Amino acid sequence: MKAIEWSIMRYVRGGGCASKIGPGDLSTVLCGLKAPEDDNVLAGLGGFEDAGVYRLTDAIAIVQTVDFLTPVVKDPYSFGAIAAANALSDVYAMGAIPKTAMNMVCFSPGHYDLGVLKEIIRGGIDKMKEAGVSLIGGHSVDDVEIKYGLAVTGVVRPDRIVRNEGARAGDLLVLTKPLGTGILITAIKEGLADGATAQKAIEVMAALNSRASQVMQQTAVHAATDVTGFGLIGHLSEMIKDSIGVDLFVEHIPCIAEATRFLASGVTSGGLRRNREFYASRTEGPMDGFLCDLLYDPQTSGGLIFAVDPADRFLMDRLAREAGLEFPVIGVFTEGPKGKIVLR
Ligand code: CO
Ligand code: CO
Repeated sequence: MKAIEWSIMRYVRGGGCASKIGPGDLSTVLCGLKAPEDDNVLAGLGGFEDAGVYRLTDAIAIVQTVDFLTPVVKDPYSFGAIAAANALSDVYAMGAIPKTAMNMVCFSPGHYDLGVLKEIIRGGIDKMKEAGVSLIGGHSVDDVEIKYGLAVTGVVRPDRIVRNEGARAGDLLVLTKPLGTGILITAIKEGLADGATAQKAIEVMAALNSRASQVMQQTAVHAATDVTGFGLIGHLSEMIKDSIGVDLFVEHIPCIAEATRFLASGVTSGGLRRNREFYASRTEGPMDGFLCDLLYDPQTSGGLIFAVDPADRFLMDRLAREAGLEFPVIGVFTEGPKGKIVLR
């Protein structure tokens, strides 16, 4: 099967994550524009939540999100699986259960064998099966730059929505996937990563956040989001806003070993640098060394970060263990300094 060629990605500047709209850009674009909304909109454009939430009845709300990517790995099947896991993640981050999905495809049969597209979609479908999601439609556009993703609809009880705000001082900060996928994607694109390293990146990115979300739904979690393009520090900043602070235990943060090795050897990305410029003022404490750069690394299909009541720590550990996973505590929310991430 033909692999995806980077050479044809003529519109991609510096990789999938790096070509993303930067932090802060979206609020500039939306400034002054008012989204149409009614009283049943529980999470809309203004809230910077992971997904939109619309109440149908007092017992049920729909959760909607859309996400698509340019290729992050060369294997089309793996790319499809990663893009699907990435699109489903925002539903999981809100404590909701995904139910249906629609394919979104940009692909040019003039430039590529259709077998490549078939593999991408097969990867997406296998991920949807794993998630228990029904594929009910989609749309495609002829475009030389391949893009694939999903529009996903999920359900949640309106009183059980987990928002990105709401963490309380004393809550524990948990991260459910290791950091470093952005650096690994850069290394893969620059031809620096071997097959085993690419496989490790695929494994992390294609993993669903479903189990993490289930654990979240069974414990006292006050706030959550997923770590994506703005990196750990960026998404954590959105969680604390200016209302509380957080202490981050840097050495407890799980990292993909290969990613730290690439960072040490000087590999970096535009997305990482932009995140660091935008969010560095939110941090306090020793911030030197390439390891700290990992905190700004834009993640594709990253893990969830959530704020769990310390009384439920052992319950969370047990539920994670039963699912064959480990969700390390990487920090604690504090009274202040408000709006600051203090590195310990
Ligand atoms: Co998100
Ligand atoms: Co998203």
